Order: sequence, then structure tokens, then C-alpha cells
Amino acid sequence: MNRRIAINTGGGDAPGLNAVIRAVALSALNRGWEVFGIRQGYEGLMENEPGGVIALDRDAVRGIGHLGGTILGTTNRGDPFRYPVLKNGERVPTDISGKLVERFKELGFEALVALGGDGSMSIAHRLMQRGLPRVIGVPKTIDNDLKGTNVTFGFATAVETTTEALDRLHSTAQAHRRVMVVEVMGRHAGWIALFAGVAGGADVILIPEIPYRLERICEKIEERYKRRRDFAIVVVSEGAKELGGEETYKMGKDAFKEHAVLGGIAERLARQIEASTGCEARSVVLGHLQRGGSPVSFDRLLAQRLGSAAVRYLAETEQSGMIGQVAGELTLIPFDQVTGGTRNVETRSDAVETARDVGICFGDEPVGTFLARIGAHGPPGQQT
Ligand code: F6P
Repeated sequence: MNRRIAINTGGGDAPGLNAVIRAVALSALNRGWEVFGIRQGYEGLMENEPGGVIALDRDAVRGIGHLGGTILGTTNRGDPFRYPVLKNGERVPTDISGKLVERFKELGFEALVALGGDGSMSIAHRLMQRGLPRVIGVPKTIDNDLKGTNVTFGFATAVETTTEALDRLHSTAQAHRRVMVVEVMGRHAGWIALFAGVAGGADVILIPEIPYRLERICEKIEERYKRRRDFAIVVVSEGAKELGGEETYKMGKDAFKEHAVLGGIAERLARQIEASTGCEARSVVLGHLQRGGSPVSFDRLLAQRLGSAAVRYLAETEQSGMIGQVAGELTLIPFDQVTGGTRNVETRSDAVETARDVGICFGDEPVGTFLARIGAHGPPGQQT
């Protein structure tokens, strides 16, 4: 059967996007289908420029599986329901979803494989309600915070990059007897901070799910210095907040952007720690380093499993939805179960308990013992 499908990549990039594109293209081409890539989210469909939609034949996807970024480009300012349209010299948010669906059909596409996070899944779902024939979503984000799946591609690579950075920061922190406060991405979920913090031997991990008290962090640092372990690594998620406090933002949300940009908490904390403990402190923001570079093997494999599963669902069913990994198996999850919310770290999971057991401080006051905690709240979750 000759089928014609399209792929796009939306939101912030994540290592593994190219591996998914290649897997989708090869799995479809091997079934005799035609595959096209839409450039920069949905822009390639709308701007009517030559090259906005490109054929993904074998040559186009050759040798890209190990590369970071995306050969299609991406954007987190391309929501077709509030697309920046130039009117009287000014960009005005405009709903162009109807035109977009028309153009998609004009090009003869039967289905879209949409690679993205919660924003992209919600856009895909709404486009289907406007008449887009079928969409299979593939969960992408370094933040690992998408509902409906217990893993997203890009996360493992971000954890690896962050862990390597923590290893490097240990030696300079120790040499100078400093506190290094390391800010990592993750938006409103603490997955990167938790996993990399444990893997990289942090002394303090601050995540959005566990509001912290400055005094607890300072006590932990002072206790280390007293033991002549006179340096400390504090990993702070960009979305972490003090008990009763607010998140720290460096840039507000404008009319076209999906999210306001978090940032700045590490520098603020470094100054507070220095003032309160007298220990010299420095801040480091890892930022987009966590999104760049080649995917690690786990992400390359996951990306290919997700990409080929997307094509199998298109070939063998009439359904739409996002491919999620649940209990190790890939399955199709309805869009309304993956959008509108964040999958957060379960504060009683084994990863958090492991961190506490090895002496990592979350800046909180854990209630008694582990057994007391599960007695109070039921058994802890296993989240990985
Ligand atoms: O969602 C991925 C992510 O990298 C977040 O961790 C981070 O807060 C945000 O995107 C940064 O967005 P931008 O690319 O607009 O700076």
C-alpha cells in the first residue's frame, strides 16, 4: 500500500530527535511508503517557502542517528493556534490551525508523526479536532516530565552530561574549598537534578517537588566542613523553590512562547549560602549544554524503538495517540491522558530514598525514618 506520512519536531530540542526521524523514515520506506519532514515545527507547512517540506528518502536520513539537534529544525514559538503573523509591521498571535490542516491535506499526507513534549502533544491533539487525519506522538524531552510514559528520549543524555559536569566540578570545588551550586534544567520536575545528583555524588539536591529551607542546606554544608570535607556540591533544579517561596524566572512568557524561562536560582542560593555559612560559594548554570551533543546509547535505542513503533501503529491500527513506555512496554496512550500536567518525581520513590540513605540532603525535614514515612503514606513508588 502506498502511504504518505509527515514528521515534525516541536518544542526544545533533545538528543535522539535525529535517531527517531531516521527510524520513522526507514520503517516507513521499508514498507514502500513516502515520508516527508516539515521544517521548524509547523512553519514549513505555513510559510510556503521552497524546502519547507522535504522528502525523507534514504539519503536524507543516512548517518544521522548519532547526531544531536534535529535535521528538521524545531521551535517553541510555533503554536499554530497563536502563530506569529505579521500585521501592520507587528507580529500578532493568530489562529492559523484551519489553514494548516488544509495545507496538510493538500500535500496528500495521511498522518503526522509528531516528536515533542506536552505542548506539542496538546497542539497535535487540537489539530486532530480541527481535522488533521491522524497523529502518532513520540515523547521527547530532556525533562522526563511527560505524563503517560515513564521515560522520554533525551533524558538519559542530559543526565549523563550533567553527571560528567558534576565530576569535573568536584575537583575544582575541593581544590578551592568551595561550595559549587549547579543549576540544571527540568522545568517544574526534578528528574535531571535527582538522577544526575545521585550519580554524580552531590551533597545537596534541591528539586521542585521538595521545597527547601536554607537553614537545612547550610547545616549540611557546615557539618561537612567540620568533618574537614571542606567543599560541597549543591545541585539545584531550575524550578526548585524555598518552602513558602516562589520559582525564579529570568525571562517572562510572551504571546508566542510556550513557557516563561526559569533561571537564576543557583546564583541567588550561592550568595545566601556564602552569607549564612561564611564558606566561599560559586554558581554554575549548565543550561543548554544539557540539550546538546550526541545521544547516549540508551537514548539512541529508545528513539529507534519509539520511531519504529510509531510506524507500526500507523500500519496496523487506525488509532492516534502518543507512544509511551509503561512497565517496560511501548503502548499507545490517548492524547488527553498525556496533556495538561507534569509527571513529577514521586517524593517517596526509591531514587529519593537512595539519596537520603547515602546522606544527600534535600533541604527538607524528612519525617522520621523510612518506615515511618511509608507507614504514614503507604508504600513508596518505583519510578524508573
Ligand atoms: O523543556 C526543555 C527545556 O530545556 C527546559 O528544561 C528549560 O526550562 C527550557 O526548555 C528552556 O527553554 P529555551 O530553549 O526556550 O531556553
